Amino acid sequence: MKRKVTIVGGAGNVGATVGRAIAEKELGDVVLVDIADQKAGGVALDMYETCPILGSDSRIIGGSDWSAAAGSDIVVITSGKPRKPGMSRDDLVRDNFEIMKSIAPNVVAHCPNSIMIPVANPLDAMAQALFRLTKFPRERVIGMAGVLDSARMSTFIAMELNVSVENIHSFVLGGHGDTMVPLARYSTVAGVPITELLSKDRIDAIAARTANGGAEITKLVGTSAWYAPGAAVAEMVEAILRDKKKILPCSVFLQGEYGIRDLFVGVPVKLGARGVEEIFQITLTPEEDAALKKSAAAVKELVDVIGM
Ligand code: LAC
Repeated sequence: MKRKVTIVGGAGNVGATVGRAIAEKELGDVVLVDIADQKAGGVALDMYETCPILGSDSRIIGGSDWSAAAGSDIVVITSGKPRKPGMSRDDLVRDNFEIMKSIAPNVVAHCPNSIMIPVANPLDAMAQALFRLTKFPRERVIGMAGVLDSARMSTFIAMELNVSVENIHSFVLGGHGDTMVPLARYSTVAGVPITELLSKDRIDAIAARTANGGAEITKLVGTSAWYAPGAAVAEMVEAILRDKKKILPCSVFLQGEYGIRDLFVGVPVKLGARGVEEIFQITLTPEEDAALKKSAAAVKELVDVIGM
């Protein structure tokens, strides 16, 4: 049976990049829902017209009408204000919470059995808001952040060591903010931890650049990134729709795992047809554990601002 992925905010840069990647991989049909009705229709048509060239039978439609989203397997939520240079992701919390409040009832009404992938910032707090507002089970609310942050870290390691990105496996945990936790011990090149390959100074520089990765792009481009965020969402969508059981770092609602309770924080999870099929608990050093707890505390502060 043909699968369906709805992308809310689908006429925007991140949303459109996700849609295009899904069509390219022929993962299913794509619905771009956006308050910019005409633009969403146009972006969808342009994207649909790439399909004969891609050899993809994904059908792509767009508009502001949620009825087209009915019965979606996955709903990706990219709506929200993007960052401007100098802003932190956290500066968006109140405005984007209002947007999540307008979206949640539509997801519940039209796509009650879907798996939601929140993407709007501040990511972990918006994922928590959507989880609370929709009352979906935690297995079906999976925030995108760690895949993006890990991809950025892998890029920087590849630049540093001049090796194929395919050899690199990076691990970034915690909230999608300045306090994110790039884990050097678990980040490897052909299976070798980078702690064996790089000096502490170089690792610290890579970790800092990773944590600042979104701001770096925002400063250069004038708005927040879309290619890597879009590709990261597409990897998650593929893992779910193809039931790959892929282990990816995602922001999920923790209930005691890692000593964190009732909060969305990035940790390694197994993604498959049911959404989050398992939360992996890896051993952390006291230092790593303290960094994760600090990151969770930063998420908690934002969640408290919106009372979720
Ligand atoms: C970034 C934004 C999308 O990290 O949070 O680029």
